[in-house]
Amino acid sequence: MEIVILLGAPGSGKGTVCSRVAEIAGYRHLSTGDRLRAAIKTGTAVGREAKPYIERGDLVPDEVMIRIVAEAMTAETPDRRRFILDGFPRTEEQARLLQQFLRDQGGSLRAVILLEAPRDVLIARLAGRRVCRDCGATYHVVNIPPKREGRCDACGGDLVQRPDDNEATVRNRLDVYERQTASLIAYYEREVGLQPVDSARPLDVMVSEIRDLILADAS
Ligand code: AP5
Repeated sequence: MEIVILLGAPGSGKGTVCSRVAEIAGYRHLSTGDRLRAAIKTGTAVGREAKPYIERGDLVPDEVMIRIVAEAMTAETPDRRRFILDGFPRTEEQARLLQQFLRDQGGSLRAVILLEAPRDVLIARLAGRRVCRDCGATYHVVNIPPKREGRCDACGGDLVQRPDDNEATVRNRLDVYERQTASLIAYYEREVGLQPVDSARPLDVMVSEIRDLILADAS
């Protein structure tokens, strides 16, 4: 098992970058936000537990999150256990639980990449984000528009705003990131080293830089 961690504030581009980089770098994209939204949609026990936290923009409890991640990773056959983690870990406790899980599995952490962008860029990205109701593809009304307004390029589904992209929840998510997740930067700098990437640049530039970082680190 081998993992790459992509850290960054809400709106820094974690999901967009992962969905483009994972396949070309030979990894599987594992997004905890996507897993939680799928659990809410299908009405599982995890989904019911997570829903109020997500609606407020707060973090879902650590023990729920490590269980989701461990189950998702071990569900893959051993030859496919190479993951880019998007949105996990988010607290030092999650980082420690992940290290323990990797030790138990005989796995390794290849790289930790941090996407950095100013708060005004993050807010503009979240305000303009649209996601496909059917396949989950992500767009931006100005930066990455679909070919046909309101329709997904990939499957033709309706493009909608994520319920947690409203102004009050976005403000809380950014505050929660600064309060609870930013300390992970110091943790990973201390423990394994961390590669910062300026994510306020055009998507293509970021994608090729991150792909090169991962492949250099994984070689
Ligand atoms: P999650 O889904 O992980 O949300 P998030 O961290 O808030 O991140 P986002 O998905 O909002 O942003 P992103 O960085 O992926 O940006 P994107 O690529 O879409 O989590 C949601 C909730 O689940 C949390 O609030 C929490 O409650 C819970 N949760 C999840 N994981 C958890 C955990 N580990 N522990 C506890 N709770 C957890 O890009 C944003 C927009 O910008 C898009 O419109 C995109 O098109 C555009 N864009 C991206 N890159 C560029 C670029 N380079 N140039 C121009 N536009 C760009």
